Amino acid sequence: MSKRVLSVETSKMVGQEVTIKGWVNARRNMGKIVFLDLRDRGGILQAVGVPSQMDTVSVETMKEVRPEWVLAITGTVQERGAKQKNPDMPTGNVELLIKKLEVLNTAMTPPFEIDKNTIGINEELRLKYRYLDLRSERMKKNIILRNNVSQFFRRHLLDEGFLEIETPILTKGTPEGAREFIVPSRTYPGQFYVLPQSPQQFKQLMMVAGMEKYFQLARCFRDEDQRGDRQPEFTQLDLEMSFVEREDVMSLIEKMMIELVHIVTPEKKIQEVPFPRLTYTEAMEKYHSDKPDLRKDKNDPNLLAFCWVVDFPFFEKTDEGGWTFSHNPFSSPKPEHMEWLMKGENVGNISTTQYDIVLNGFEAGGGSIRNHQSKALKKVFEIMGFSDKQSQTQFGHMLEAFDFGAPPHGGIALGVDRVIAILANEPNIREVIAVPKTGDARDLMMGAPSPLPKKSLEDVHIEIKK
Ligand code: AMO
Repeated sequence: MSKRVLSVETSKMVGQEVTIKGWVNARRNMGKIVFLDLRDRGGILQAVGVPSQMDTVSVETMKEVRPEWVLAITGTVQERGAKQKNPDMPTGNVELLIKKLEVLNTAMTPPFEIDKNTIGINEELRLKYRYLDLRSERMKKNIILRNNVSQFFRRHLLDEGFLEIETPILTKGTPEGAREFIVPSRTYPGQFYVLPQSPQQFKQLMMVAGMEKYFQLARCFRDEDQRGDRQPEFTQLDLEMSFVEREDVMSLIEKMMIELVHIVTPEKKIQEVPFPRLTYTEAMEKYHSDKPDLRKDKNDPNLLAFCWVVDFPFFEKTDEGGWTFSHNPFSSPKPEHMEWLMKGENVGNISTTQYDIVLNGFEAGGGSIRNHQSKALKKVFEIMGFSDKQSQTQFGHMLEAFDFGAPPHGGIALGVDRVIAILANEPNIREVIAVPKTGDARDLMMGAPSPLPKKSLEDVHIEIKK
């Protein structure tokens, strides 16, 4: 058997004998002749089975072959007749005249058609058989796009002098907004890890550590109600920089996003560069939203409208009449409002350095310049009604770290899933995640969550209430 080539490579191999391996995308019988479309990771190639050209075993095997069987086919690449050429297919100028056909595996009939767009298929079924759904062309394209976006971010930030640093998944619970997923400790009865909502605290501690420019494609976990643009676990492009001001972070991101579109989805156009900037008040007054969709033509699938929203109020009223942070407790106020924060005055009018990047009406990311002095961070907790003891228990490690010479710093996190979904023109982020959860947080392919044996629960000191 000759060496395996990918289907796409055959378009330039007329006359050569090759072996291709892959899945049967479709089978068509034309009298004695059988056409098989074989699909591999590169694309699809039409193979033609003419009994007189094949060995006798292969002729018999061919009769059995069904869609999604896994085959190795050896044959000669030949030019298609003028009328048979298919300009819409990368291998549309050629076909493989089968000599030998070997079955590497059979397949059950798939629960839905894979050679078509699966968007209209019941989603629970697609998620249960995600490995089949991902065989379809649109889903494969989305996964490839995702790969291209991640690799672009990585390359771009490495070129900008960033370090990729991994931070813990098993960590300590700190209220940062969303409810957290909890992991019981076996060794310490009654104690728990939680999964990080974001690497916020770790990246700030990396700044205290002198890393200066950190990034990570970080998995984040939030136990919150699901929507089309939310998942219980999702990915951020998370970054943090030392010795920067708001403009530095915003211009780095703006430049990166422009280049991303240019390189990864060159068919798209950005409506306005530099990205328009709105204050929170302007956005609310003009668009009644803090993530306005500024596209002039919402029917143009290739139009991208970025904007920045800035000057959010730092605090908002709680139902109980106290104050809580509107975005991020670690943000610093705008420099001209620092005095108000320190004096605890005018709390409702303090603006944060928070900047949100909005794309086509979705919050694609957000960040801020942080308080790098413990006294300012303490003040934030004080305004929110934390006692000294509470601040110490929950954030003592941050307050202490800042007293060891924390540099001024700031950063941002982009919602990678959302950015990719928009670039892919997909209606929700599940379409661009290899194995997403359902709207009610289940993984139907693996069957998670699931009960555990009593012994496993005992090990971690858990008893289930009836
Ligand atoms: P924030 O909470 O705004 O900021 O998150 C940053 C971005 O992550 C995306 N995002 C989500 N995507 C999918 N599913 C979710 N459940 C989900 N939640 C958030 C959004 C959002 O803009 N630590 C700060 C960042 C910083 O200040 O540097 C943070 O996590 O696109």
